[in-house]
Amino acid sequence: MQAVIFCGIQGSGKSTFYLERFFDTHLRINLDMLRTRHRERRLLAACIDARQRFVIDNTNPTVEERARYIAPALAAGFEVTGYFFATDPRAAFERNQQRSGRVAVPAAGVFGTYKRLQPPTPDEGFARIDRVELVPPRGFVVTPMRPPA
Ligand SMILES: Nc1ncnc2c1ncn2[C@@H]1O[C@H](COP(=O)(O)OP(=O)(O)OP(=O)(O)O)[C@@H](O)[C@H]1O
Ligand SMILES: [Mg+2]
Repeated sequence: MQAVIFCGIQGSGKSTFYLERFFDTHLRINLDMLRTRHRERRLLAACIDARQRFVIDNTNPTVEERARYIAPALAAGFEVTGYFFATDPRAAFERNQQRSGRVAVPAAGVFGTYKRLQPPTPDEGFARIDRVELVPPRGFVVTPMRPPA
């Protein structure tokens, strides 16, 4: 059973990466879509209860925000993997401006998240953390941030 936690500012490529790598295997939990923490908690609990693999596709910039998923996943015996989407905030902001079909994230949102960003570390309970960098136009480079525990 695998729980995957994404961490990265708006426009860092998280949802695109999910579609490419996890769409067929992991349920996606995304607060923008669910809108409320109540719905998010219900869906998280359902995945854990059903032993269903899932991805938390939120910005998750701080240790505290990630702990809300990591703690219950570890308690239920999931292996928790982190993906850190490292990106230049100006480039992410530009990509946000280009996006169609959704309201562009304001600069304050992108740069505000960047300021709060705490890169994930094994101490939080991750068995493995990978760093993801996007390579335009469609590529991703994934490298381990720390050797697997
Ligand atoms: N490898 C890539 N190269 C260039 N552009 C990319 C790449 N992957 C995704 N993009 C573009 O970057 C923009 C942001 O991608 P995406 O929606 O996946 O980001 P996100 O991290 O999910 O953002 P948010 O947190 O706001 O949901 C999109 O317009 C997407 O098409
Ligand atoms: Mg997204």
